[in-house]
Amino acid sequence: MILIKSAEEISLMRVAGRIVAEALEKVKAAVAPGIATSELEEIAEAAIIERGGTPAFKGYRGYPASICVSVNDQVVHGMPSSRKLREGDILSLDLGVNHKGYFGDMAVTLPVGAVTPQAKKLILVTREALMLGIGQAREGNRLSDISHAVQEHAEANGFSVVRMFVGHGIGRALHEEPQVPNFGPPGMGPRLKAGMALAIEPMINAGDWKVRVLADGWTAVTSDGSLSAHFEHTVLVTRGEPEILTETGH
Ligand code: MF3
Ligand code: CO
Repeated sequence: MILIKSAEEISLMRVAGRIVAEALEKVKAAVAPGIATSELEEIAEAAIIERGGTPAFKGYRGYPASICVSVNDQVVHGMPSSRKLREGDILSLDLGVNHKGYFGDMAVTLPVGAVTPQAKKLILVTREALMLGIGQAREGNRLSDISHAVQEHAEANGFSVVRMFVGHGIGRALHEEPQVPNFGPPGMGPRLKAGMALAIEPMINAGDWKVRVLADGWTAVTSDGSLSAHFEHTVLVTRGEPEILTETGH
């Protein structure tokens, strides 16, 4: 069942989403060649707690940290470590917060210093794919209209979409129904209704869509070693324009 959020729940989700966005801004500002991903973790955790939130990922199925830091061919769920970022890397940051029992979830990919034209394009196209997917999160549309919009844009630009991980409903749990794939034909699945909250999160590879999980049990990497990018917003379906909850401005 896809839960419909009440006005009060939506207010709480706006606060959770704002905390996510503000904390992620602080982490982004620290990204530079030479910084260790464990330092980004410290910044994230402090920023979340300062704002009255709890890191949503820490302890989730045993995940050890507040953020995911996925570098280059790492797709998602990279764990903070002593690894130092280098000029030319691309870094995906994923951050989730629980505030007063409601969750927000967001991810961005950013260049570390100067990166190749291909890396720049991958980041740009993945962000655009997210925004096109969000544009389909409208009352009356079907769930897979989101999926299709993402896939179309990625593949039109010569990239591929990851199948092994998908977006999700979100609210009183980090992961609620429905699953939100980033691929598929349009016009399928449940009809979207005002009050549904979805974490839409395209993961797009420069090469093949296949991924595998490393022996650490978490880090997903592209099977061909190609670069991967990831953007995510927590989005509310309304009677009109979709509302992005993971923004700093509201
Ligand atoms: N945005 C990811 C998700 O929705 C991050 C989860 S990391 C985990 O699943 F550690 F919490 F699993
Ligand atoms: Co998510």
